[in-house]
Amino acid sequence: MVRKKHKVRQALPKKEEIDTFFDRKSCEEIPVIKKLVLKPAGYPLRVIGEANPPIIISDNPELFEVYAREQWSGYIVSEGSFLFDQFLYPDFAFQVIKLQVKKNYTTGKISVDTRIVLENRIEPIKLEYPKVYFKDIVGNQEGKDKCRVIMKYLKEPERFAKWVPKNILFYGPPGTGKTMMARALACETEVPILLTKATELIGLHVGDGARRIHQLYSVAKENTPSIIFIDELDAIALDRRFQSIRGDVSEVVSALLSELDGLNSVFGVITICATNAPSLLDPAVRNRFEEEIKFNLPTFEERLQILKHYSEESPIKITADLSQLAKETNDFSGRELKDKLIKGAIHLAILRDKPIIDSDLFKEVLHRIQQDKLKTQKNKIMYG
Ligand SMILES: Nc1ncnc2c1ncn2[C@@H]1O[C@H](COP(=O)(O)OP(=O)(O)O)[C@@H](O)[C@H]1O
Ligand SMILES: [Mg+2]
Repeated sequence: MVRKKHKVRQALPKKEEIDTFFDRKSCEEIPVIKKLVLKPAGYPLRVIGEANPPIIISDNPELFEVYAREQWSGYIVSEGSFLFDQFLYPDFAFQVIKLQVKKNYTTGKISVDTRIVLENRIEPIKLEYPKVYFKDIVGNQEGKDKCRVIMKYLKEPERFAKWVPKNILFYGPPGTGKTMMARALACETEVPILLTKATELIGLHVGDGARRIHQLYSVAKENTPSIIFIDELDAIALDRRFQSIRGDVSEVVSALLSELDGLNSVFGVITICATNAPSLLDPAVRNRFEEEIKFNLPTFEERLQILKHYSEESPIKITADLSQLAKETNDFSGRELKDKLIKGAIHLAILRDKPIIDSDLFKEVLHRIQQDKLKTQKNKIMYG
């Protein structure tokens, strides 16, 4: 991005007192716009070789307003019109989303009194108050123990002075209860949790991810104590050896790093990130976590407990030998036991109008799941 060299500045029009004026070109009365809402629309052109298009954001709405009025007063626009930023090259476009003018008009003129706001296109972030408890989580004792100190912190942040816990990494195979643990932590401490996925941070538009992170932390700070949970961290924080860094991804990572470093940190915000592939993480990111909590696939005892726990919630009576099932599901995660095995059996029983779920029915479901697992493993070997 460069500044234009021979910029011809427009003379500022005089302050207007009237709310309409006569446009000689169109021979029409044109009202003066009271309020104009714009959204960033991107560049009409891009300089070849510039892999990293600059990000256009504005952190200061008042300054943006002055800047926008200075270059666009006198312009006549309607909804959908584009305004080009004349100070930048290539010209950055803004689109008119809304304009407030006199009744029955759809077009208006921007004046030095027009209120100009930049729309925050990003979806608002929802605070969640989950209802899941530590007692619902089978196993993962080490994780629960390590979460106790975080619970103390979220309840009484002042007690920690400057020795606050900040960033925690949950890692382990998919479906082993990482998200569940973060939600339970929020529930047990009665604090809100902001759940997001790293993949969602890589938005469609350059700049969105960094803005999203900024927004995430602002909402968390307004609601302290609170927890930020970022799932699938490896999607953005891959070791540089494994990715050719896209401009937008590296920009998300830098935004995240500055938040993790707590440059503008506030008491009472905990960041928990989760990944299935910690070894792929960029060391710069991984170093930011003062605590790593490992989640394992359930042991035989834990599988049995998980099966018992969810079988009790089945609408169809389960008569099968659960300990036999636990023996045969060695490499199953908690999620697979619940969502594939038990749910699969319930669905099959409903399909066949069976009044009970016995060992034979489970055997059939298990056989199907194992076949599917084999297929995915083969695909992984063949296609990486
Ligand atoms: N240890 C466990 N105890 C009880 N339920 C579990 C356990 N692990 C997984 N589950 C079940 O599987 C679901 C998915 O787990 P989740 O927390 O999303 O896993 P992850 O985040 O590690 O991929 C949970 O909502 C829960 O119903
Ligand atoms: Mg998860």
